[in-house]
Amino acid sequence: MNRMGKKDVALSSYEKQIAAGIILPEEIDVGFNDIGGLEDIISSLRESVIFPLLYPKLFTTSSSLLSAPKGVLLYGPPGCGKTMLAKALARESGAAFLNLSVSSLVSKWYGESNQLVSAVFGLARKLQPVIVFMDEIDAFLRERSKGDHEVSGQLKAEFMTLWDGLTSASDRIIILGATNRPDDIDDAILRRMPKRYAIGLPNLQQRTKILNLMLKGTQTAPPPEFSLERLAAITEGLSGSDLKETCRNAAMKPVREFLQQHSLDPQALQTAQEKGFQLRSVTLRDFVDADVHGAEIPAPLD
Ligand SMILES: Nc1ncnc2c1ncn2[C@@H]1O[C@H](COP(=O)(O)OP(=O)(O)O)[C@@H](O)[C@H]1O
Ligand SMILES: [Mg+2]
Repeated sequence: MNRMGKKDVALSSYEKQIAAGIILPEEIDVGFNDIGGLEDIISSLRESVIFPLLYPKLFTTSSSLLSAPKGVLLYGPPGCGKTMLAKALARESGAAFLNLSVSSLVSKWYGESNQLVSAVFGLARKLQPVIVFMDEIDAFLRERSKGDHEVSGQLKAEFMTLWDGLTSASDRIIILGATNRPDDIDDAILRRMPKRYAIGLPNLQQRTKILNLMLKGTQTAPPPEFSLERLAAITEGLSGSDLKETCRNAAMKPVREFLQQHSLDPQALQTAQEKGFQLRSVTLRDFVDADVHGAEIPAPLD
């Protein structure tokens, strides 16, 4: 398998270690169309990240002010689609995508971590145009802590120096970070990520879009027993991943009932399978009963 795509270039042994994080578009199962309610952010990412990376001249021909930013940050509460968005970018951008985990930079061998950090930038130059993705970037850039994956101040400094060394004229490399805790990222880093996108909890309209996507393959009852508008209205405060969990739990209700009706009898289940399972469709009540961790869905008022 050649993770460098068609490019036939020699890699140092450290670069090879980092290259394990290269993600090929065909390995990714989410695209922009699977993401609900983030159209504005997606089109802004296209315009300010992907196009400058792929077609730098388009921007620099008319003005020296226009170029791809060297750093982009996605931030907001967990479960709202940051990681998903980065994955979709990897599939749809046409640029190479390097998924850089903090642990891949931390070596137990003294001195090796610095080599790994420079290998990141060395590899990126060979791969470009490339998006270098650091999920949970706060873990890398947080102040010194006593964890296993402690990243020394020196390592951070080295990383930032190499980052600053990227020039928009010749390097088509973007560092894309995501974090649930933007307050934990120090100012030195934030300054290097001038483009920031807040990805907050979905509002009513966004929840409607997300639920619509998630329930595409689910048999829901006709109104008034089920209504997507109603469901979107009563799920205020839930994140995208909470919505997913809620939908999954609700969809499980008819299955569980069916199993109970057939007393888990293997013979009856086998017969039902041959005839094709007749399950009842999912109602709003199933969603209200679906309990997502900590998030209480209020009962609908009818
Ligand atoms: N906007 C959204 N549209 C569709 N699904 C979403 C959305 N946000 C979150 N999800 C669902 O929640 C899961 C977790 O989202 P993720 O991208 O890991 O969140 P984050 O990185 O912001 O914590 C996704 O895999 C997806 O199933
Ligand atoms: Mg994430």
